[in-house]
Amino acid sequence: MENLTDPVARDRVIAVINGKGCVGKTTVTANVAGLLAQSDYRVLAIDLDTQGNLGLDLGYADTQDDDGGRAWPPPSCSAATSSC
Ligand SMILES: Nc1ncnc2c1ncn2[C@@H]1O[C@H](COP(=O)(O)OP(=O)(O)OP(=O)(O)O)[C@@H](O)[C@H]1O
Ligand SMILES: [Mg+2]
Repeated sequence: MENLTDPVARDRVIAVINGKGCVGKTTVTANVAGLLAQSDYRVLAIDLDTQGNLGLDLGYADTQDDDGGRAWPPPSCSAATSSC
């Protein structure tokens, strides 16, 4: 494993991908992100799964900061715009 104290090595994208469902992708993501953040790394965790379970695991779901996806589509994106 590479040295995570190396500033160059810290700028990394870690993708957790698997075609099979329910194998622990979200759990691994939440824990790795949490441990890195706890170790003072700046972490941006992006959940591309529309289930949005990462927010649930990290405690952001059903809070004041959670709009339940209602911000999408943005006002500038009309229903007639197929690209949204
Ligand atoms: N190491 C583990 N031991 C036991 N249970 C686990 C472990 N890791 C995850 N789980 C449990 O397995 C289930 C599936 O985990 P998780 O939601 O992370 O999978 P997933 O691959 O993200 O699923 P999905 O394909 O639905 O997004 C969850 O109930 C989770 O709590
Ligand atoms: Mg998942």
